[in-house]
Amino acid sequence: MDLKAHIRGIPDFPKPGILFYDISTLLRHGPAWNEAVRRMADIVAAKKPDVLAGIESRGFLLAAPIAHALGIGFIMLRKPRKLPGAVLGLSYALEYGEDRIEMQADAVEKGSRVVILDDLLATGGTLGAGINLLQQAGADVVGAVTLIELTFLGGRSRIHAPFESLLSYDE
Ligand code: PRP
Ligand code: MG
Repeated sequence: MDLKAHIRGIPDFPKPGILFYDISTLLRHGPAWNEAVRRMADIVAAKKPDVLAGIESRGFLLAAPIAHALGIGFIMLRKPRKLPGAVLGLSYALEYGEDRIEMQADAVEKGSRVVILDDLLATGGTLGAGINLLQQAGADVVGAVTLIELTFLGGRSRIHAPFESLLSYDE
């Protein structure tokens, strides 16, 4: 199945000159979404994780069904001030400004094998920060997997864990 046929590029969103790869149409199509999750689950399973981590919000769309399919749990890496109790956080630079992700301080056992998931790798800032945060929490990040990779942005250089994407776009 050609999964790219179910992903549309929307020009000039969220700002002029940006081509936004919209997965809404993939999510809406049952067989295509099933195939995407199944193929990603195969990539993730090969890394033999103890637990998965998903990045809010679109990363949750992948982490939850893949964790369910593999019969393991998943950790939420969330936007600031969403998680209760003690949290660890990491701020990271955006093209303009700064963003931050947080996780619960007791979410991972030291040395546990974690695979982190997100929908898309663009500049790599978000996924790179997620990996660094998990490592600070004591995780062994054995893989990072995204549905889409925008190769022309070179985000891979910021990913210090074995990285794989299901679909890549070179423009
Ligand atoms: C998007 C996307 C990735 C990130 C990729 O998330 O879902 O998480 O940007 O960009 P980067 O590689 O340049 O960091 P966004 O912040 O738009 O939020 P959302 O997932 O809540 O929609
Ligand atoms: Mg996101």
